[in-house]
Amino acid sequence: MSDKVYLNGEYLPLSEAKVSVLDRGFLFGDGVYEVIPAYAGRLFRLEDHIVRLNNSLAGIRLPLSYSVADWQAIFQPMLDSSKDQYIYLQVTRGYAAKRDHGFPEQIVPTVFAMCSEIKPFAGRVNGIKAVTLDDTRWQMCNIKAITLLANILLRQEALDQDCGEALLVKDGYVTEGAASNLFAVIDGVLVTPAKNHEILPGITRDVILELAATNNVAYREDVIALEQLKAASEVWVTSSTREIVPVIELDGVAVGEGKPGPVWHTVDNLLQTYKKSLS
Ligand SMILES: Cc1ncc(COP(=O)(O)O)c(C=O)c1O
Repeated sequence: MSDKVYLNGEYLPLSEAKVSVLDRGFLFGDGVYEVIPAYAGRLFRLEDHIVRLNNSLAGIRLPLSYSVADWQAIFQPMLDSSKDQYIYLQVTRGYAAKRDHGFPEQIVPTVFAMCSEIKPFAGRVNGIKAVTLDDTRWQMCNIKAITLLANILLRQEALDQDCGEALLVKDGYVTEGAASNLFAVIDGVLVTPAKNHEILPGITRDVILELAATNNVAYREDVIALEQLKAASEVWVTSSTREIVPVIELDGVAVGEGKPGPVWHTVDNLLQTYKKSLS
């Protein structure tokens, strides 16, 4: 973690960064967030993250108009060009004198950002086990809300079963992971669910589809039925800090040959090369 965090216009030591217990983020989980990687001090896909942040803010009716350059200026002092890091950014509807579900008349959002190191994740190259669980989340999963209780319980259920991720099932099809998007290789084609209110529009997901399109990797955005997932030759989960993680065992059964597959190797190489090309 960088020594200073950003809170409402100031850079402070973490131990001095304080918000009121009446902050609506604390009382209601009334806020949104972003996780933005920075490789060697360069923010990755910053514009895309800010577009998603603005969509999340609009989704919870919280007006805040910082430009990409404003955000860049806030994050830059916390970055270190000798490390791979990520910015955690959280915006809540701020302090209100009285706990009341309705929005307060005067809204001063709480804006908090901190920077942490991205530690290499062994599962990215070795693969992880995953378990399928009922998608118990709300109907607005496209909003990156800090209210993550269902995601937390689902991830913990996976961990309790000695798995690294929960793949979420709704009406017989899979949506995404508890903290990741989902890809499967079905009949040689890379498939991922289309964007809608049932999934978070992942930035890593978009990058993978762009790389697939420009490198002749066959792909499509489509519904993935649970039976199709179970028969897939490869299953991956993707996110900004873990990148593309192969699932090598699903519900106790090996996926494909039980090791990261050839399409993962191809697309992971493309992603690593793309990241290097930006630094
Ligand atoms: C529910 C959910 N889906 C997908 C993702 C992946 O999004 P991104 O690639 O932008 O990190 C995340 C990231 O944390 C997530 O929490």
